[in-house]
Amino acid sequence: MDKKINVSIGACLPGMVTAETIFNNYGAVIVWENTKLDDSSIHRLKDFRIENIQIFESSLPYKQLKEDRMPAKEAVRAEEIPFTEAYEKDTDAFKSILYDLSTGKTVSLNKTIEIANSVYSRKNDNREIINCVTQIRKVDEYTYYHCVNVSLLSMLIGKWMKLASDDIYMLVQAGLLHDIGKSLISTELINKPGKLTDEEFLMMKKHSEYGYYLVKNLKGIDERVSEAVYYHHEREDGSGYPLGLPGAEISQFAKILGVADTFDAMTANRTFKLKKSPFNVFDMMQFGCFGYLDPVIMDVFLANISHYYIGYKVKLSDGRIAEVVYINRQQYGKPVLKVDGAFIDISVAKNISIEEVL
Ligand SMILES: [Fe+2]
Ligand SMILES: [Fe+2]
Repeated sequence: MDKKINVSIGACLPGMVTAETIFNNYGAVIVWENTKLDDSSIHRLKDFRIENIQIFESSLPYKQLKEDRMPAKEAVRAEEIPFTEAYEKDTDAFKSILYDLSTGKTVSLNKTIEIANSVYSRKNDNREIINCVTQIRKVDEYTYYHCVNVSLLSMLIGKWMKLASDDIYMLVQAGLLHDIGKSLISTELINKPGKLTDEEFLMMKKHSEYGYYLVKNLKGIDERVSEAVYYHHEREDGSGYPLGLPGAEISQFAKILGVADTFDAMTANRTFKLKKSPFNVFDMMQFGCFGYLDPVIMDVFLANISHYYIGYKVKLSDGRIAEVVYINRQQYGKPVLKVDGAFIDISVAKNISIEEVL
């Protein structure tokens, strides 16, 4: 049966279908049940100061696009586009959204939904997703790639945590939009090389709050998505921002974004890039982010993502080439390797490290 959900009048959009008959104070009908809302009926409801109404969940905008309105042909075509090409396309499309925002144009929810659908339709390509998000990207285009990457990584985490597909879809949206508030911060500050002054850092920190208001205004978007954007820099020990919430008060979506965001930022960081090894990042996350990121979500993430590197060839600090054969759960960044017919556990062999993944 179609689920009914409570939607505030401000968030009602044309096309949503009412799941109840709505009466005015004198008992006269304003809108019948099963009515597809349009601008005039929404206006009427507002005039009567109705605050919330029941809507059929299947008529929410993203549901419509996902299940009803998305033409079958398009869906087939999306499957045929090679992953990297689709990834570049999503990134370009996202770039235009951020551009529109920074030039004061309003962003269309549909554009965001289109990209979210495209990202979501690739949920089976785990290996390709991981390859793409860990590749070296152009530094000046960091924000666009970063948003698409965080979206893809959050989707994978949702999948690995076995969340419901609606939740995973919302994570895709939240990932895309998590840093959208940066569009309201000057480009010079965003691209400033080197250390920020205290004042600049304070300014930069405002992006999660700005993002929250921008996303909240995309009517039809679930509140959990805007909330996740608001809280994505909150940390388990209360050291995050904007509110300094303790772990127990941070939403699950925001915690997932926190893990995906941290991983992508570390992977993109120059010092790690030089080493070209995701294993350094696994180490940094496992031991450096303890107390900041949710330990369970981080463990699910590291256990699964590190697994994809089994079978990869790596170059060691002593120049030899080895193969990753086993991942240590106690130390994801220090796997067991096969080299010259012998096995080395580099969590024990302290003088050897992985230089790069080949
Ligand atoms: Fe952020
Ligand atoms: Fe971010």
